[in-house]
Amino acid sequence: MTDLDELLSRAQSELAASSDEAALRAWHKRYLHKPAGEVEVAVRAVSSVPGDKRKEYGQKANQVKTALTQAYEQALDAEKEKALEASLAATPLDVTLPGRTPAVGRLHPSTQALRRIAGIFAEMGFQIFRSREVEDDELNFGLLNMPAHHPARDMWDTLYTTTPGVLLRTHTSPGQIHVMRQVCPKPIRVILPGMCYRKEQVTTRHEMMFNQVEGLAVGERITLADLKGTLLTFARRMFGPDRQIRIRSSYFPFTEPSIEVDVDWPRDDPNCDRLTKGTGWLEIAGAGMVHPTVLRNGGYDPAKFSGFAFGMGVERTVMLLHAIDDIRQFWRNDLRFLRQF
Ligand code: DAH
Repeated sequence: MTDLDELLSRAQSELAASSDEAALRAWHKRYLHKPAGEVEVAVRAVSSVPGDKRKEYGQKANQVKTALTQAYEQALDAEKEKALEASLAATPLDVTLPGRTPAVGRLHPSTQALRRIAGIFAEMGFQIFRSREVEDDELNFGLLNMPAHHPARDMWDTLYTTTPGVLLRTHTSPGQIHVMRQVCPKPIRVILPGMCYRKEQVTTRHEMMFNQVEGLAVGERITLADLKGTLLTFARRMFGPDRQIRIRSSYFPFTEPSIEVDVDWPRDDPNCDRLTKGTGWLEIAGAGMVHPTVLRNGGYDPAKFSGFAFGMGVERTVMLLHAIDDIRQFWRNDLRFLRQF
């Protein structure tokens, strides 16, 4: 029979003296470990206690075991807490510091505008057709009713490659010929988005590179009224229900009649006068009825088919949308500008 009172007080005072986790574990091994720990041995000794004392001894042995087990667990928790506090104090960690936001890329404002424009025309039944940026002289000019030495070629200051007859397209219009030749004799309703290049004098409204969205509709009864309706619907969806467009007569070799399309600049914008040369309008597109010669070059009989076409400046629509006062911002790669979109 073990002296349980003595065992309890000895175990308690030794536990209190265990000053780190290793000492605590050693204490556990000595007293509570199965089967050889002293307390375990004392509990099992109940079988050799004489009958009249057995019940009392058994209860007490179990109480001692429970009390010591709890005391051990508390001491171990306290020791772990102390170790954590110590490691936090050694390496200061300010949990109130703001986190680091990962850098997130954005779509370029021109890309965003191209997607919106494509969405609007898609709802009007236009399909998207991609055409090439490096083009033949013949497609960029000749088949658009501008044979060699035609004076209208001067409207586009052209960047040539070192290969004779190969240039960077100055407009998306040569795509019209590609589409017509591919689709003829079926009717056409497409837009052709993409980059164009010109040897321009760079100003607040002119850049050497820019996006255009060309539009082309060819069918048996297409009129100028269809063109006007399409452009007005587009302007209202793109810029809001109150936006006005203005149509002026113009000249392009590949359309007859030819027009230019202006959109009103927000009047309350302080840059309005400067950007619109005091008119209140910004030109966003050239357009017109496809010239019979161009229809013929695409394979369509102009006696049977007619069509309208337009070519709009994408960066200009973004300028109109956000009252941006300088087209040069688009290719400057200045994150302070790009992050606003
Ligand atoms: N290609 C012309 C330009 O870049 C714009 C243009 C005018 C496109 C009339 C057209 C059109 O499709 O019909 O200046």
